[in-house]
Amino acid sequence: MLSVSNLSVQFGKRILFDEVNTTFNNGNCYGIIGANGAGKSTFLKIIAGKQEPTSGHVSLEAGKRMSVLEQDHNKHDEDTVLDTVLKGNKELYRIKSEIDALYADYTDENAEKIGELQVKFEEMNGWNAESDAAAMLSNLGIKEDVHYTLMKDLDGKQKVRVLLAQALFGNPDVLIMDEPTNDLDYETITWLENFLANYDNCVIVVSHDRHFLDSVCTHISDIDFGKINHFSGNYTFWYESSQLAARQHAQQNKKAEEKKKELEEFIRRFSANVAKSKQATSRKKMIDKLNIEDIKRSSRRYPAIIFERDREAGDQILNVEGLAASIEGETLFKNIDLNLNKGDKVVVFSRDSRATTAFYQIINNKEQADAGKFAWGVTTTQSYLPLDNSEFFKNDLTLVDWLRQWATTEEEREEVFIRGFLGKMIFSGEEALKKSNVLSGGEKVRCMLSRMMMVRANVLMLDEPTNHLDLESITAFNNSLKNFKGTVLFSTHDHEFAQTVANRVVELTPNGIIDRYTTFDEYMQDSKIKDLRDKMYQ
Ligand SMILES: Nc1ncnc2c1ncn2[C@@H]1O[C@H](COP(=O)(O)OP(=O)(O)OP(=O)(O)O)[C@@H](O)[C@H]1O
Ligand SMILES: [Mg+2]
Repeated sequence: MLSVSNLSVQFGKRILFDEVNTTFNNGNCYGIIGANGAGKSTFLKIIAGKQEPTSGHVSLEAGKRMSVLEQDHNKHDEDTVLDTVLKGNKELYRIKSEIDALYADYTDENAEKIGELQVKFEEMNGWNAESDAAAMLSNLGIKEDVHYTLMKDLDGKQKVRVLLAQALFGNPDVLIMDEPTNDLDYETITWLENFLANYDNCVIVVSHDRHFLDSVCTHISDIDFGKINHFSGNYTFWYESSQLAARQHAQQNKKAEEKKKELEEFIRRFSANVAKSKQATSRKKMIDKLNIEDIKRSSRRYPAIIFERDREAGDQILNVEGLAASIEGETLFKNIDLNLNKGDKVVVFSRDSRATTAFYQIINNKEQADAGKFAWGVTTTQSYLPLDNSEFFKNDLTLVDWLRQWATTEEEREEVFIRGFLGKMIFSGEEALKKSNVLSGGEKVRCMLSRMMMVRANVLMLDEPTNHLDLESITAFNNSLKNFKGTVLFSTHDHEFAQTVANRVVELTPNGIIDRYTTFDEYMQDSKIKDLRDKMYQ
């Protein structure tokens, strides 16, 4: 279906891909995994023809169509919702526009051309395009009354859903997506998981989300050591078998007999645990040819995330009274009263993720509240990881100069001092001199974390901190927050993160706050709270 030959990519001395040869076949869903900065997004851009490799080439089987999920949410701002979806099938859209233009300037000569184009249009099932697009949108919860609205007038959540419909429109033979779950709400993620699990064509998707990878992938494609290796099976299977491989490599002198037994036991355990039918067949294939020697140890490294505080805060942390926010007349939250205590680790959430983002923006003086007030304790110092970090990466400073922007003393301005913080986040040697505007998504977040570590605040605020991060970084981050002695306010769609860090749960609703000292799981399972939640959103 799609084949990659002798592909190499190099930036300066850094070799991302070294003579990669591989194919992606119809009917499979490939989950591309790899550390932050391994080259996943670069690889997708190359196969989509948006970036040139240093050498080598990519070829798509003749007559097949590829579609890419758009990452720039504002690209179609001037198009209507329905047109945005139709544009997902470029060729069809081009023919339709040409026919429309010829009709507008109707002559005998044009009539003939129109006839020819209409034949093509019909072959491509063009007459049903609009109704197909409309049905797709409705499936994704985009109601008919907005199908002719301009994209710029939709909220962020709706925009992502329309772009998803655009990518899926007309059943592309190869569907490409880079971290699609990052900007999606829980319900849409579930919808997408089900859609992809039943999708018969080739899907190539980059994700750091274990749950998502497990639900949709028939293959895992690991980018490591400048190569891409496919493994049949889902993420958990890849993860478990790579752990087993590492263990077996480490126990060199263990008897061949014992190793074989361990391997067989492992296969038995996994073949019993069959989930979806699509995975079941591919799993069977995988088990037939599982060869532990094929699985290499990984080169992934754990960053050292350690948050220290310049000083301990007093008892007054944050006091919020009657806070309210809305977007274009729609109430996000109101009547929010909150008093933070020292050492609280609060998971802040809402059914509408725009509410939590607005809350952080307000208490960090980036946006105005509709009503109410807040006051930080005089001994507190704050450090904020915003959801959107793009404004931090607009210039082309080297990472050392980038981080120096937040130095406050002579010592902190020293290169060795700054390199210490970058090194903890695994930017060492030449990597620390790379320009801040070429960074991958996860590398940007790692820089933001270096910045937070250097600021040494006693209150941390984190809006979706695990977005973009690889699993090694998420684990390190998770542990660092468990150990942090200060106060933390955070919002995350990562269940594990919420459950293991928080001792308090705060929910922002259009009718006020729900505030409990409890764990996330207990909060979610409590039936009284559940009833209350349902009422609060009415
Ligand atoms: N023009 C460039 N010059 C130098 N280095 C670059 C350039 N463009 C990209 N890079 C580097 O190439 C590497 C791969 O980037 P890419 O965005 O493909 O990573 P990724 O695997 O998608 O990471 P993430 O999981 O964080 O999204 C990164 O280390 C990035 O900094
Ligand atoms: Mg990427």
